[in-house]
Amino acid sequence: MENTTLISLAEKYGCPLYVYDAEKIISQYERLKNAFSGVKSLKINFATKALSNISILKLMKSLGTNLDCVSIQEVQLGLKAGFAPKEISYTPSGVSFEELEKAANLGVKINIDNLPMLEAFGTKFPEIPVCVRINPNITAGGNQKISIGHKKAKFGIPTNQISLVKDIEKNTGMRINGVHMHTGSDILEVAVFLEAAEVLFSAAKQFKNLDFIDFGGGFKVAYKKNDSATNVEEFGSIITKRFNNFCKDYGKDLSIIFEPGKFLVSESGNFLAKVNVIKETEFVTFAGIDAGFNHLIRPMYYGAYHHITNISNPNAKEKKYNVVGYICETDTFGEDRMINDIKAGDILSFQNAGAYAFTMASNYNSRFRPAEVMVYKGKDYLIRERETMEDILNKQIEVDL
Ligand code: LLP
Repeated sequence: MENTTLISLAEKYGCPLYVYDAEKIISQYERLKNAFSGVKSLKINFATKALSNISILKLMKSLGTNLDCVSIQEVQLGLKAGFAPKEISYTPSGVSFEELEKAANLGVKINIDNLPMLEAFGTKFPEIPVCVRINPNITAGGNQKISIGHKKAKFGIPTNQISLVKDIEKNTGMRINGVHMHTGSDILEVAVFLEAAEVLFSAAKQFKNLDFIDFGGGFKVAYKKNDSATNVEEFGSIITKRFNNFCKDYGKDLSIIFEPGKFLVSESGNFLAKVNVIKETEFVTFAGIDAGFNHLIRPMYYGAYHHITNISNPNAKEKKYNVVGYICETDTFGEDRMINDIKAGDILSFQNAGAYAFTMASNYNSRFRPAEVMVYKGKDYLIRERETMEDILNKQIEVDL
């Protein structure tokens, strides 16, 4: 998005502010769809957790995506946004049986990743088909926290337990209708996706009544200029051939499913924050902003890189800064960053703030969560108001002892 557009939005709505470019989301969706256009039945389930604002979900619906949801609340949001139950896949980890039951009663597609719940579910709802999540036993992803397909990860059923899954299928009379995996997030190499896919193909072969294979999400996007990103076109062309051959051998045209979060929305987002203070010491020049890890936690939690620019003064000489937040513990957004000369009052823009940015925000330090704006064809739409003191106090009960 143009700096001038972002500045005028910061002036109109105040900071801190999340701004999403709907056209970027649309073009990413089109790119992904085209990459897999050689498959008869492709479904793209947007990973809701990445950006769950209801207006973004409605945009996804209008594009034709389905949803991947990890909690019953995400399912409810999806339904409210207009998705039909059959367009929602519920892919939880370690939830209670009651939550699975709720999802079943709402009619959404169910994905289960452990044997006890599979057995309990099949016993109670033998008529509802279920997808099982397989652990691909592959270590991949941008960092340890988001590498979740390794053999010690809590996710998925190990491949050596597939025979037990089949026993449960037989004994309960339920039907396993899909196999699923998600190896991790920020995975660059096509080879890793292909290696993981082979694990899933061998799992899939062992089930006789599948409707789909779900390869999860995890495509890496660029975080800065000249940064590398997953070549989805290359992956698409290889996996398409492999998948079509698999279907031939399997004797049925299955659907192929992907669950991208970052790929669809990461680059669409800019997070705008105002500089409160420039503080110079013998060692460091700090730019202190009116935000903290309560608003964007990825740099502190994962060491994630978010490119920071001074959109108020983009042509000034560059200087070295540590960009820090106002939270009562270390919250460094960027260390030793070369940024155009920053003055108090300038607006800084953080890129790649579309995925896992607002959705991971909190009220730590009793701060308000930011407003969110969506821009489409030059028009801006406020899609979430900034919180107020009422939101902070909401649900609190005052007790005087
Ligand atoms: N499917 C499943 C089952 C997942 O668990 C995830 C993400 C996705 C799909 C989407 O992955 P993506 O395409 O967005 O990489 N908060 C972290 C990312 C956590 C991802 C968790 N699962 C971050 O900010 O990097």
